[in-house]
Parts: sequence; C-alpha cells; structure tokens
Amino acid sequence: MHDERERFLIRYSRGFAPFTVARASGAWIETTDGQRILDFTSGQICSTIGHNHPGIAAAVQQSLDEVIHLNSWMLSEPVLALAERLVSLVPASLNKVILVNTGGEANEVALRLAKMHTGRFEVVGLTRSWHGLQAGAASVNLAGGHAGYGPLMPGSLALPAPYAYRCPIRHCNGTCDCSCLEAGFDMINQQSVGSLCAVIAEPVLSAGGIIVPPPDYFQRLRKLCQERGMLLILDEAQTGFGRLGAMFGFELYEVVPDILSVSKTLGGGIPLAATLTSSEIESDCYNKGFMHVTSHVADPLPAAVGLAVINVIEEEGLVEQARQRGNYLLERLRELQQRHEQIGDVRGKGLLVGLELVEDRTTKKPADALGVAVGDECLRRGLSMNIVRSTGGMLNCFRMAPPLSITEDEIDIAIDIIDETLKAVLASLSRLDLVAE
Ligand SMILES: Cc1ncc(COP(=O)(O)O)c(C=O)c1O
Repeated sequence: MHDERERFLIRYSRGFAPFTVARASGAWIETTDGQRILDFTSGQICSTIGHNHPGIAAAVQQSLDEVIHLNSWMLSEPVLALAERLVSLVPASLNKVILVNTGGEANEVALRLAKMHTGRFEVVGLTRSWHGLQAGAASVNLAGGHAGYGPLMPGSLALPAPYAYRCPIRHCNGTCDCSCLEAGFDMINQQSVGSLCAVIAEPVLSAGGIIVPPPDYFQRLRKLCQERGMLLILDEAQTGFGRLGAMFGFELYEVVPDILSVSKTLGGGIPLAATLTSSEIESDCYNKGFMHVTSHVADPLPAAVGLAVINVIEEEGLVEQARQRGNYLLERLRELQQRHEQIGDVRGKGLLVGLELVEDRTTKKPADALGVAVGDECLRRGLSMNIVRSTGGMLNCFRMAPPLSITEDEIDIAIDIIDETLKAVLASLSRLDLVAE
C-alpha cells in the first residue's frame, strides 16, 4: 500500500509504523490520532528512564542556556564531569573515556583502539550480534545486513552464538555448555592469518533474539582471548546502565573487558555514546598517534544529558527495579507459555526479554507468519514490541525492552494484550498459515 509519508524520505528499513507520533511520556507514546501505545521497546532501546523524563528536559534546557556545542579541542564542565562519573561506575582498569554519538561510533572507536594497540587487525564477532552500521562495526554485525555493500573489513571472523534454544553446532538442547565457544575458536585458529586482535560481544545478544550466554561464558571467552593476546571488547549499548538488573552486564558475568562501549541507554534518547579503556591502552595509542576527531566529540549538551540519565537511574533505584520488574515480566510470560503451545521459549535477563513463537514445541519450527500477525495485532491493540527481523530471516521472536521505570500494572496490560492477541490470531489463522512462506 502506498504511504504518502514516504514521499521525501529515504526508506532505511522495511517500512514505517502505520501511525505518526505526536508525543511520548514515561512508557507511553501517543499518536496524532490520539491512540496511546505502550512502548515495550523504549524507543530504539534508549529511553530506559522513560520518554521525556523531566531530568533530561532540565539538562537540555541548562545546556541551551549555557553552551550546546564546541570545537573538539575545547573542554567543558559537563564533558569532564561525565567522564569522571563513568569511570566511577566501572572497575578501576577502565579509567579513560571518549564521548561520541552512537553505538556504532563507540564500537568503531573500540576497534580502532584495539587495532592500534595490538598492531593486529583480525576481529571476531558472535553470530547473531549487532554492533552498528559503520564499516568496521558492520563487518562484525553477524545478525545480518551485509548483502549489497561490498566486502567486509579484511580479518572479520565469526564465533557461533551460544543460542541454547537452537544450538548453532547442534550439540546442546536448552542449556549451553560452551562447546560452541571451543568449536568456534578451533575454526578461528584455522582461519587466522596470525593477526588476531579482538573479540567484540554483547553481554546479552539483543538484536539476534535475546540470547543469554551461560554464566561461565565470558570468563572462558576472556581466557581464550588472553591465550592469543586478543583484547575483549564488550558492547553494552543495550545492556549498560541497569537494563539487565545490574549497572553493567559484565558485572553479572564477573569479567572486566579491555574496552567497553556504551551508547543507547546512556543518552536516554539523545545521541550520546562512550568508549572506555585502560590508561595503558590509551597512552600506548596516544603515543602511536591515535586520532578520533569528530564533529560532536566535545559537545556539552549530550554530556549534560548523560549525567542527568545516570542521576535518575541512581535516584529512582532503576537498576534494582529492572531486576524485580524483569523477574515479574518473565514470570508472567512463562504463565502465558503454559497456556499457548506456540510460545516455544521465554528468556532474558532483567528487562531485556525475548519470546520465541514456534509451530509446535517438538519441531520448534519458527512460526514466522504467526510472529508477524501477532506483532501487527499487538500494535493495533496498543502494545509496541520489536520483531527481531535480523536472525537469519526468522520473524518469530519478539524483543521486549520497556523503560526500567515500567510498573507492574503496565506489564499486566502488555501481558493481557499478548494473551488476547494470541487467542484472536490463532483462531483466525489456519495451521498451514503458520508455516513460513
Ligand atoms: C548492541 C548494539 N551495539 C551497537 C548498536 C549500534 O548503535 P547505533 O545504532 O546507535 O549506532 C546497536 C544498535 O542496535 C546495538 O544493539
């Protein structure tokens, strides 16, 4: 169907939502037609403290009154304060910060630092991972989006994701024993040209279908990296600042990365990201001439917002709240799972939760048509969730990442919508329709 709104837009994805948004507040967005929609994606997984939080508005207003933007060699108080605040939140070895704009850019900085420090260029990413669309990051985006843009960066290598529900090496069933990690490194050893630089990974693979690695995964990965002189880069775009029920995902895995990138959840909806590393890596790269001068690297406005977001997370106890509400959401979804055979798997940590639809639990065949129909109908009924479209063509998995400020009542509203939608859609689809076309 022709969408008149697309007239002046480059279509950057598979179409737009069938409504136009007028405003948003907390966990709700309101369309120009007056419909209220519960936002179970926190915008693009950024608005963890809720849409249009007054703390963000105040920080923006203060920057408008003082200073918005500066030349990259000029420092301001918000930039200095945010760098110091970030360092105070992470282990002592991560004591150097650069502020940038997006998750892809923060990862690009991470990769540039890793390459310059090690003098090597081979970078390993996990299958089903997502790290951004700049050339370096996109080369290790193994959840898709490669076709049509020419070669990847030389030295881009893949490690199978620890996807216990659909084991990539057909070994585990439901519980990952890390054989994929060992088998993956055997392959990496054989493919490497002797320039292994770094592994980049998300603590929970989000765009790839909410894949939660087993508890010992990152310690084992860390060891495999150390044995090869590789750096470990953790990309906490979605998991940082409370979403998993801990300030950072790496805390849950008791591992400290060499380089940490944070983004979406730091800006609360304003473009802000950061890369953190050790003073050892920073000074080595500085001495080798490291350069990352970009237009907004020293902007006071986003830095002021980042400080406000961290303040709100601490003042409102949102880390603990994410843990509790995440458990509640998982519990409620598992109740639904008992009632609906088509809910094959429910998984997640904190308020990053996935629900995978299957034709039946024995074959686990992805119920793609059902996924699309349920997503559309939930939206019509006032609940916005993400279908994870990047998992190698599967359309049967929903990602839920509501603001950390979500209430139990709002979770109940979402559960009722999913329940009623599943009943209605299943009643209207014949069994054959559930099969992927
Ligand atoms: C884990 C992760 N890293 C990086 C990115 C890229 O962030 P951005 O779109 O801000 O460049 C994303 C975006 O979805 C992400 O999920």
